[in-house]
Amino acid sequence: MIGDLVVLDVGAVAHGGHCVARLDELVVFVRHTLPGERVRARITEERKGYLRADAVEILQASPDRVEPPCFYAGPGACGGCDFQHATPAAQRLLKADVVTEQLARLGGLPDYPVEVEELPGGPLGWRTRVQYAVAPDGRLGFHPTRSSRVLPIAECLIAAPGVRESGVTERRWAGVDAVEVVAPSIGDVSILTRRGRGRPRVVAGPATVREQAAGRTWKLPAEAFWQVHPAAADTLVAAVLDMLQPQHGERAFDLYGGAGLFAAPLAEAVGITGSVVLVEADPSGTAGAAKALADLPQVSVVTNRVERALTELGEADIVVLDPPRSGAGAAVIEEIVATGARAVAYVACDPAALARDVKTFRSFRWELAGLRAFDAFPMTHHVECVALFRP
Ligand SMILES: C[S@@+](CC[C@H](N)C(=O)[O-])C[C@H]1O[C@@H](n2cnc3c(N)ncnc32)[C@H](O)[C@@H]1O
Repeated sequence: MIGDLVVLDVGAVAHGGHCVARLDELVVFVRHTLPGERVRARITEERKGYLRADAVEILQASPDRVEPPCFYAGPGACGGCDFQHATPAAQRLLKADVVTEQLARLGGLPDYPVEVEELPGGPLGWRTRVQYAVAPDGRLGFHPTRSSRVLPIAECLIAAPGVRESGVTERRWAGVDAVEVVAPSIGDVSILTRRGRGRPRVVAGPATVREQAAGRTWKLPAEAFWQVHPAAADTLVAAVLDMLQPQHGERAFDLYGGAGLFAAPLAEAVGITGSVVLVEADPSGTAGAAKALADLPQVSVVTNRVERALTELGEADIVVLDPPRSGAGAAVIEEIVATGARAVAYVACDPAALARDVKTFRSFRWELAGLRAFDAFPMTHHVECVALFRP
């Protein structure tokens, strides 16, 4: 069956950058298509109960379809962008539908209205951190969807100008598994290489990069986490502060805090009579936080895993959490609930993980009191959400 061509009438979008169609009794997850289209698709994978396919010919196009701006977008090619063939406005509607669907299916909240807000800067040239894979011949590229093959890429259109101008794709790289380019908001670009799961090595540019957000400057190790879209840091900080409305004298937690993007404005808002505890597992993140927040004595920085640290932190009035894609999980949410906080802002880069965690909050009789979603990753299926929970 793999390799067969079939004609499919394409239905709703699903999480992961594909749409759902049916072939007899089977569900088919189809990439490179849009809801409402009729396509000729090639079956790429056969699984128990479902198939995967790539639309290779569009028989009836959606009005939202456009010619992908990127040469490498399309069936079997680069797996980095899922929605190059949709208008930016349609991409945001697709992502909104996915968040609504995930909240219904995994969070138990049917018909939750979601609007995905546009970030400034347009759909191309936004990615300030790009990790390239290295092909056997030393050229840089990206993996096609669900493949370990490396497709050599001369230029990536979603990469920020600093990344594209770094010239990394013009040379061959021997003896490394990945090359990462970091284009910070201030100063020169850094180039890092990785071997296996070892620590990255800075091979060009500064080892410490500077980022500007929330009215202050961070100096952090080039490999430390920072929001990838240049407008994301300020946008997320504004959304979190607006939802939590921190008050003078309050105690706040910034969990999965990285270099303290949320801890700094929270500390300014709670003032010197309040306190903020930042918890982050990666020492390169807390190294950045310790330097950037040195003028804020009300902040304490804890280098530890959230699930370990939370058991000893005691009570809080407000909590921000910004976990990795896997989400926070039930044990961490139970600890957050136990802090007695009046409000929690949850910054989520995976709507499925968020929806699972919504379900856990609701099991403790906490409500989802607000949700904003941002198109912080245009052209891809990814979407950033900020959710407000209250007991
Ligand atoms: C999405 S980033 C958010 C960082 C920060 N809030 C920001 O916006 O810059 C998630 C962070 O969680 C950290 N992390 C992952 N798992 C963790 C855990 N179990 N405990 C603490 N930190 C963790 C990562 O190192 C990363 O810095």
